[in-house]
Amino acid sequence: MTNYTASSPVKTACGRTALAARIVDKYFSTDRDDRFRQVLQDFIDDMSVAVASQHPEGRMLALVGGSGAGKTLTMEKAIKHVNGLDDSNFLRLTTPSPCTLKQLGRVVLERLGYPLQRELADHRIWEMIRYHLKEHGVRFIWLDEAHHILGRGSDSELTKLRDVLKSTMQQREWAVSLILSGLPVLSAFISGDRQVERRSQTFRFQPLAFPDDVDLVREIAYEIVANHAGMAVHDEIGTDEFIHRLIVASEWGLGSAITLVRRAVLFAYSQAGADAVVGVEHFAEIYAEERDCSADSNIFFAADWQEIVPSNSRLDAALPARPKRKRGKTA
Ligand SMILES: Nc1ncnc2c1ncn2[C@@H]1O[C@H](COP(=O)(O)OP(=O)(O)O)[C@@H](O)[C@H]1O
Ligand SMILES: [Mg+2]
Repeated sequence: MTNYTASSPVKTACGRTALAARIVDKYFSTDRDDRFRQVLQDFIDDMSVAVASQHPEGRMLALVGGSGAGKTLTMEKAIKHVNGLDDSNFLRLTTPSPCTLKQLGRVVLERLGYPLQRELADHRIWEMIRYHLKEHGVRFIWLDEAHHILGRGSDSELTKLRDVLKSTMQQREWAVSLILSGLPVLSAFISGDRQVERRSQTFRFQPLAFPDDVDLVREIAYEIVANHAGMAVHDEIGTDEFIHRLIVASEWGLGSAITLVRRAVLFAYSQAGADAVVGVEHFAEIYAEERDCSADSNIFFAADWQEIVPSNSRLDAALPARPKRKRGKTA
């Protein structure tokens, strides 16, 4: 049990808060953004052509990638750079979890400004949705976290969800295009129905690769520490091996790597203020906090770090301690 003692004063937070505010919103645009924006623009343009045709039909664009890859933020940024998508024709929502036909319908109706006041049958809810989508002129719906569709529900619920999304795209009198972003398992949802697959295209957020992405990740790390935060970078952060460890610690996700660097910067600041030299120890500390792991399982310290699976690190902390290994680098 923890005994109560009068706490010592915590260091003032305002410098750290100002630093956090300075670094948190900076966006790194990569060639992935350029490629995605073009795909999104073509998708929107194809919809205007389809709407003007004799047989209007919507399509589906799937953004697929691991957690922390940057799907949500990439899409948010892209929206501002493309033509033809605005508040008048575009609805964004987070897929509920668990995602049943009723729950999804409830969320869509709410976003359309019609929160359900009483229980209604699923088909009535979706009739109302179709009516209001047309009334509001909504031509595009973005379902983020769309892998929730494949949650714990039954196969028949999944089929119903697929059918309702399909008919939303196919509705002759008011066709709607769908953008679904989520984890790779989302592909199973699309491939499960040939009619859906035929109307779909997928933009994949590839995991970071070593050594191909070393320069990109190193540049980003330096940019955050030196330029965004205005702090000193320890030499050890420049090595290929450190960047490799950072990539693995981030489970190969670009967004997760960016977030880890930012948190290391803030931790270094909390420790030693603006004069801190941001180095491996700060990354290791943040990793240990996040994963609740022992030093042995810490990617930034362990000699056998290539054997470590970050998502299993937490389990190691609960096991009896292994003999301590020295912090080390592989050859
Ligand atoms: N290009 C980027 N520039 C700056 N920060 C980014 C970028 N991509 C992702 N991030 C950061 O990573 C976090 C996770 O990204 P997010 O888009 O939520 O990933 P996903 O949706 O794939 O799980 C974001 O909150 C943001 O802080
Ligand atoms: Mg996301």
